[in-house]
Parts: sequence; C-alpha cells; structure tokens
Amino acid sequence: MSDIIDGIIERAENSRIFRNKEVLRPDYVPGELPHREEQIRRLGTILVTLLRKERPSNVFIYGLTGTGKTAVSKFVLNSLHKRGSNSFKYVYINTRQSDTPYRILADIIETSGLTVPFTGISTAELYRRLVKVVRQENRIIVLVLDEIDTVVKKHGDEVLYRLTRINEELSTSKFTIIGITNDINFVDLLDPRVKSSLGEEELVFPPYNASELEDILSRRVREALKEGTYSQNVISLCAALAAREHGDARRALDLIRVSAEIAERGGKNQIAEDDVYLARNEIERDRVTEVLESLPFHSKLVLIAIIKGLEQRKQLITGEVYDIYRRYAKRLGLESISQRRVSDIINELDMVGLINAKVINRGRYGKTKEVTITKEIRDAVAKVVINDEKLASVWSG
Ligand SMILES: Nc1ncnc2c1ncn2[C@@H]1O[C@H](COP(=O)(O)OP(=O)(O)OP(=O)(O)O)[C@@H](O)[C@H]1O
Ligand SMILES: [Mg+2]
Repeated sequence: MSDIIDGIIERAENSRIFRNKEVLRPDYVPGELPHREEQIRRLGTILVTLLRKERPSNVFIYGLTGTGKTAVSKFVLNSLHKRGSNSFKYVYINTRQSDTPYRILADIIETSGLTVPFTGISTAELYRRLVKVVRQENRIIVLVLDEIDTVVKKHGDEVLYRLTRINEELSTSKFTIIGITNDINFVDLLDPRVKSSLGEEELVFPPYNASELEDILSRRVREALKEGTYSQNVISLCAALAAREHGDARRALDLIRVSAEIAERGGKNQIAEDDVYLARNEIERDRVTEVLESLPFHSKLVLIAIIKGLEQRKQLITGEVYDIYRRYAKRLGLESISQRRVSDIINELDMVGLINAKVINRGRYGKTKEVTITKEIRDAVAKVVINDEKLASVWSG
C-alpha cells in the first residue's frame, strides 16, 4: 500500500509541468509588476516622505478586481520598508477578514505586541488603547485597509472617521491611511468628511488589456512552469479569455494555473489549448457555486421556482415564478416575500448571470419578464441545494 503513497509523493515532487507552483498562487507578491509602473511611481512618490519621517497624505486606491491594487501597495510599502525600516511602521489589514471595527482596532493594537480579548472591551476603550499604543510607537504608522468597502457596508464609516481623526490627538507619531476598494460606487457611501480626508490623494487602477495580460503571464510562467511545457498560443489564449470581461490579472493567472493542473493530472508534458478551455469551465463552475452558496435563502427559493417552473412549461414569466415560489414558501411554513421583491430578486439573479430575464410587452397587460436558465446553472443549483434540508425537500418535490 505504501508504494501507492510513495508514487503520489514522487509525482508531486517531480512535477512534469510545474517548476514552482507558488508563483501562480493569488497571494504571491511577484518581484516585478509590469504595466503598473505609473501606479508604482505615483504611490512611491506619495509615500517616500516616510523615509524622512514626514507623514504622507492618505491615499484612496480604486480599480476593478485583479488590476494589481493589493500587489502594488504591498510592493511599494515593502520596498520602502527595506530601505528604512526604522522610520515607519506598516500595518496591512484586509477588512474582509477583519470585518468589524472592533477587529480592525484590535489588529492594529496587536501589531505592537499587546493582546486584546475577543470581546468585552468598549470601542471607546479600544480607541484609548490605540492612541496610547500609537504614541509609544513614536513614528509614522501606515495603515493599509484593503477591501475597505466590506467593513463600511456592514458597519458604516464611523471607524474610518475616527481613524482619520486620530492624528489630532497625536504629536510625533502619526497615521497615514491607504484605503483600497474595487467597488467604484463605494465612495457614495462615505460621509463627505471621510471622503475628503481619505481621498487626500487618489489613485485609479485601469484594467489590463489582452496584450498586457499576455506580458504579465509570460513573465510569471517563466518562474512557475518548466521550459517547453507551454506555448505562446496557450499564454495568448489565457490572456484573451481573461481580458474578455475586464482585464483581470487574477483570472489570467488562475486560468494558466488550472490549465497546468489539468495537463498534469492527464499525465501530459505540455499544456494544450483544450486544457485552457477545460480550465475555464472548471473556474466558471467554481464561481457559479460560490455565487449560489452566497445567495439569501429566499433568492435560492426563487431560483428553484424558476427551474421547476421551466420543467413544466416552455415559457415562464415573473407572475408565474411568484406563484410557484409562494407555494414553496407555504409548504415550508415560511412567510413569503412580496411579488415586488421577487421581481427584484429576478433582476439580481439576471445581473449576476445565473438566469436570463428578458422584458416582454404584453400590450394592455403591461410589461413582464420572461426567464430562462442554462443547463449548467441548473446542474450547479442541484448540487448546492442538497446541502440544505429545506431546499432539498422542495427540490425533490
Ligand atoms: N502587473 C502585474 N504583474 C504581475 N502580476 C500581477 C500584476 N497585476 C496583478 N498581478 C497579480 O494578479 C493577481 C491579482 O492582483 P491583486 O491581488 O493585486 O488585484 P487587486 O486589484 O487587489 O484585486 P481585488 O480588487 O480583487 O482585491 C495577484 O496574484 C497579483 O500578483
Ligand atoms: Mg486586492
């Protein structure tokens, strides 16, 4: 039996395709970031005052997903820190993980070696401790708040307001905040005062185009994959597919990594274009499952109503979806949501690409929507609903 395991280990160690798979992982910070020279230069210029122990402006960074915001910020701060580690401190917090004001403040305090209990301290007390800690640091603290929209959407912008104001209580040590988001509408959620102090400087990250992605990929694969395992066509294809929606470098890297895994699983020495298409389907399937799992319960129920409705008839309109949905809710002993809300859900499902909803005009009966769904999505829903007892009971009729 142990020879089976030996075989697995040997194959894992002696990959035919990968030289260093880590290089293609999403959180790997590469040594070079081509096509972001301008953003690196601007951020570097803003932050270089750190080396003179002068407080830089706060910076607000935005751009669509996969445009290098996190990578560039880490790259610039790491590079400056290497050249002057005593002159400033650098704290990176992803607010998707630290998703409450309490956690954010606790994280900052804990970087100074203090511990904060999980709960039980008032926010006012946390701020007091924070000010004390920062004072003792006696230098500038750069606070990177990545994916900053997540915490603000859940808890409002009070924490940002307080953090941007904290400098008023400080003398030698000061805070600089770098806020990062991929949600362009996020600024509208902010109080004008927060908006203006966070946005002392603003940096926009445009999406990459296909040839930039190709260049980025070519350099990454040189480190990550063995020579002769990939062709330029394969790289171009990954870049072109990733550029189709918007130029997302993460997607491009995922495509080449998964393609390489597929080729390797097939015992091949080379990645073929077909592997890239298979990779795209695999990634797409994962994405759909993720979206499905994150839907609220009633949205899932509406989705099931659509699928079951379409098993009975060729065409399905909003009112009919609502009737089926209501029957399900009743069967489960739940209060149903309004038809208006169901119609909103149908729009939302359409927007995230789970269904297709087309407006049809019924003359004097007004407008409604006709919904359709693909077989792929139906199959994905079938897999997701079995994890929920209630949904599964409705699904199986
Ligand atoms: N110019 C580049 N050169 C090499 N790799 C890059 C470049 N830009 C981005 N990447 C890589 O693409 C992936 C996504 O980049 P990053 O995480 O910085 O995106 P982001 O803009 O922060 O996206 P999100 O808004 O989703 O957080 C990372 O693995 C990163 O290393
Ligand atoms: Mg990011």
